[in-house]
Amino acid sequence: MPRMIVDCDPGHDDAIALILAHEYAEVLGVTTVAGNAPLAATTANALMMTALLGADTPVHSGAAEALAGPAPHAQAVHGSSGLGGVTRLEHDRVVASTDAVGFLLDAPEPDDWIVALGPLTNLALAIERDPGWVDRIAGISIMGGSATVGNVTRVAEFNIWADPEAAARVFRAGADLTMCGLNLTHQFRSSDAVTERLRGVDNPLAALAAESFDYLHARMAEFIGSRDAALHDPCAVIAVTHPELLETRMRAVDVETEGALTRGMTVVDARVSRRRDPDNVRVAYGIYADEAWDLVFAALGAS
Ligand code: RIB
Ligand code: CA
Repeated sequence: MPRMIVDCDPGHDDAIALILAHEYAEVLGVTTVAGNAPLAATTANALMMTALLGADTPVHSGAAEALAGPAPHAQAVHGSSGLGGVTRLEHDRVVASTDAVGFLLDAPEPDDWIVALGPLTNLALAIERDPGWVDRIAGISIMGGSATVGNVTRVAEFNIWADPEAAARVFRAGADLTMCGLNLTHQFRSSDAVTERLRGVDNPLAALAAESFDYLHARMAEFIGSRDAALHDPCAVIAVTHPELLETRMRAVDVETEGALTRGMTVVDARVSRRRDPDNVRVAYGIYADEAWDLVFAALGAS
């Protein structure tokens, strides 16, 4: 069973990714970052998830802002709490520390993974404090970027767009880096049929997932007229726990931090020939979605 630290900004899909991580990996800890919602909200949601899971996983809060300063949140998608539509669980969990960067630097052993599901600010600060860190972990698996379209802009995906300077630092740091971008996650979609299947399960995790999908499907119906949603963050967990379910290719990838139209874009060099830059990222292009859904349903007690 792989060991990992999950850096996240819960967020409905982060919450489901945390359930998968606790089912199929040993989770050393959770670090939180501002993203879908302000840091206080994402941290409160992470604490609630560890309580719901009955896991003694420590939660360490991290960056409240992007490297370049305040960044907008994605509360139109996830609600002001970051987990809109989800029944709140009363619990007594508190953060283990407010030093997510220190935990990221000190906790991992050489075979451990970092799974990043939000803006990459905490990881960039860790690299800034100790560039050798990337050589002391197995690798980094991110949900972020895209080899095709964006979601916040034509070409930029939210996690990268929210802190492009941080993302550039992570992509240039020499880590073993796997990118699960929108080109992949758009192939892994929930629907009302998934929600109905989960509603029939007497399990608080399945109930949270059903409420999450219902909420996300309503937002997607508002935005794009369709009641289905890409299940983004679990892909980055599956890339570590079940890599055989993803089709990946090594590519040279860098992050645009300047462009008026392209800031926050992950620029993937997909040229067949004349590629000169080193292939620094394992880019995910395909997923065995049925098998991946089997993992999700099993983790939710809905097999
Ligand atoms: O663009 C999708 C990503 O942005 C996901 O990680 C989602 O949780 C939001 O953070
Ligand atoms: Ca996220």
